[in-house]
Amino acid sequence: MKKSARLYRPHNHFSVAGGLVAFGLVATALYVLIATYAAGASYGSEPELATLSDPSMSISDPAASGGKAIQFKAAATGPDPTAPSTILLGAAVEPNQLDDPAFTAALTQYKFDSLTAENAMKFGQIEPNRGQFNWEGADKIVNYAVANNMRVRGHTLVWHRDVPGWVNDLSSAEAATVLENHIKQVVTRYKGKIAQWDVVNEALDEDGSLRDTVWLQKLGEGYIAQAFRWANEADPTAELYYNEYGTESTDLDGDGSYSRAAKANAQYELMRNLLNEGVPIKGVGLQTHSAGYYPGRGADILTEMKRLGDLGLEIEITELDVINLGDAEKVERYAELGRTCKDSGVCTGVTTWGLYDGHTWRGTEAAPLLLDTNFNAKPSYDALMTALGRP
Ligand code: G3I
Repeated sequence: MKKSARLYRPHNHFSVAGGLVAFGLVATALYVLIATYAAGASYGSEPELATLSDPSMSISDPAASGGKAIQFKAAATGPDPTAPSTILLGAAVEPNQLDDPAFTAALTQYKFDSLTAENAMKFGQIEPNRGQFNWEGADKIVNYAVANNMRVRGHTLVWHRDVPGWVNDLSSAEAATVLENHIKQVVTRYKGKIAQWDVVNEALDEDGSLRDTVWLQKLGEGYIAQAFRWANEADPTAELYYNEYGTESTDLDGDGSYSRAAKANAQYELMRNLLNEGVPIKGVGLQTHSAGYYPGRGADILTEMKRLGDLGLEIEITELDVINLGDAEKVERYAELGRTCKDSGVCTGVTTWGLYDGHTWRGTEAAPLLLDTNFNAKPSYDALMTALGRP
């Protein structure tokens, strides 16, 4: 690396010989310093430097560039805005829907590349009686997804709903044994096929306290961490998520009041504490069941996504549907939420809670989804795809 003499100004009180020696020492020190820096040494909050071997790295020679300071080209940071979007588009499905040619044709036509089991993988559906596992529905969804090169989100291993009655009669010790067995049986069966699990769903109450569920009562507060560890032991390759509603922003009403921030703040603290304990959490599922401008406007949801992203977590919008808005406002709302996901840099997928308006927990008349009752794309579909940067 050439250095220009312009980088050094010897003082006149040195003898010539002394000046030459001093110059040599300083030049050597400078070379070592620059070479070390250029080799990617971390310097505080300096942007990550490309390594010298990186072709994108260019150290302009001051002599060649008219004496300017040496320029280091920082490594590219953040997603490439010109790259095609890699944000997945998903839908929650029921097994029997995959027998309907119109349904599966729509999945293909509208380029859905992720499936979530709406109900088939819930505790009560899979283990209705202790030790008796019913795999049929879950297998159907997984087999269809694998055959069609689609990602699967497993929903959900631990939840306060759809818990069969026999669990309530268990002692604490038995409940721990049963839950570990349930998690390990289910996750092991789909190891390498289910990419992402909602390990724990809706563990927080509206005020940010832990929801008083049968699992909390029987296993204590540690049940959340334990569930993630059991799932990770069963499939270390699976991305393990915490899934929740009402935590998408700290301004759930979207009115600037920020009056309902407790749950989002509690979720953030819960995630930070679990990560600090080394619990293998990969991401947070923000359900984003949207009604009017609940659970917040795009800017506030973006802030929450980034706050969670700063913990190293990824985000998925896991249960999107939009009600209580006019048709035009629904289109804009889907666009707003799609832009929020894309702009966050940490949101990797958007799943609607259902494929079409003919099957939605919201009621068909609410028309909350991307396709109408005849599987035709509504303007919201194009608005979302454009916002996500998907072709
Ligand atoms: O499978 C039985 C069927 O055999 C029986 O005849 C019928 C009548 O009782 O019930 C059927 O089970 C129903 C199941 O949906 C499948 O249709 C349950 O009763 C019913 O409670 C269940 O509702 C689901 C709900 O979660 C509770 O699990 C909804 O479809 C589903 O959309 C909803 O999804 C939840 C997410 O999992 C978590 N986030 C909120 C979201 C909306 O509530």
